[in-house]
Amino acid sequence: MMLLNASGCLDAFTAPEVVRQLDGFVTKTITPLPREGNAPPRIAETAHGMLNAIGLANPGRERFLAEHLPRLLELGRPVWVSVGGFCASDYAETCAALEGIAAVELNLSCPNVDEAAESAAEIVAACRATTTLPLFAKLSAAHPDVAEVARAVASAGADGLSLINTLRAAALDRSLRPALARGGGGLSGPALKPVALYAVRACYAATGLPIVGMGGVETGRDALELVACGARHVALGTVLFADPDAPARVREELVTAARAAGLASPDDAYGLAAGPSKSLERPPSIPA
Ligand SMILES: Cc1cc2nc3c(=O)[nH]c(=O)nc-3n(C[C@H](O)[C@H](O)[C@H](O)COP(=O)(O)O)c2cc1C
Repeated sequence: MMLLNASGCLDAFTAPEVVRQLDGFVTKTITPLPREGNAPPRIAETAHGMLNAIGLANPGRERFLAEHLPRLLELGRPVWVSVGGFCASDYAETCAALEGIAAVELNLSCPNVDEAAESAAEIVAACRATTTLPLFAKLSAAHPDVAEVARAVASAGADGLSLINTLRAAALDRSLRPALARGGGGLSGPALKPVALYAVRACYAATGLPIVGMGGVETGRDALELVACGARHVALGTVLFADPDAPARVREELVTAARAAGLASPDDAYGLAAGPSKSLERPPSIPA
């Protein structure tokens, strides 16, 4: 089992010591063109979590490849690049330009991308045609049937899934105005954990693919629960803003939590709370 950071929740250049506690570093989502992101305020605290409406601020593909990626590779940890875009060719062109990294995470769950199963599968198929790198499809639990999307991206050639992204939500300030300039944003943190457990369990049963589980992990027990639902790996997101030592702490707590559950190691929890996995026997379901 690997412990990663969740995309957008760790700046590797300002906190390389946190990256070194992880088994791999996942970048902020990269889009073809640079993006400034949304106007502030774009972060707000809520009960049991936080809201963000960063809007995929990033340096763009060209600068990322020329300046950021070489420096990230020097950190000595496997690098996962999170790829975003607004149509299948945006994603595919970035995938074609990537080499020397551990995996690609396709952010299929950003607010401006149509999340219909068909569209997610189309994007994965386009990327599959341009790269042999492992492709992890990052899905949103907001879809009425996330397992259906998981099956579609699996049939299109995804090697794994990342679950889950933030859920759209709003918070108000004292004067009853939206706390975020954009009106709403993505909810992350502990409030998300039960949703993540459900999505991981459903997608594991539907596909049997390796899953990077995330959503509200604060403790080793949280991480172990995701593993029990079928997550092969776990990513830490919002917790990193409050506790930069979380990776080392969660790793220790994972061992204790596994023992408390009567297991010899955290890996022994894999799939314990999941139903039987149907794996990939279904025929491809990409629409013509
Ligand atoms: C400030 C912030 C920025 C994020 N940026 C991205 C991003 O660029 N790409 C992406 O796929 N997910 C992004 N996410 C979502 C996280 O990767 C993760 O899926 C989500 O926060 C759930 O995990 P958590 O509850 O542990 O934070 C972001 C989350 C936060 C809080």
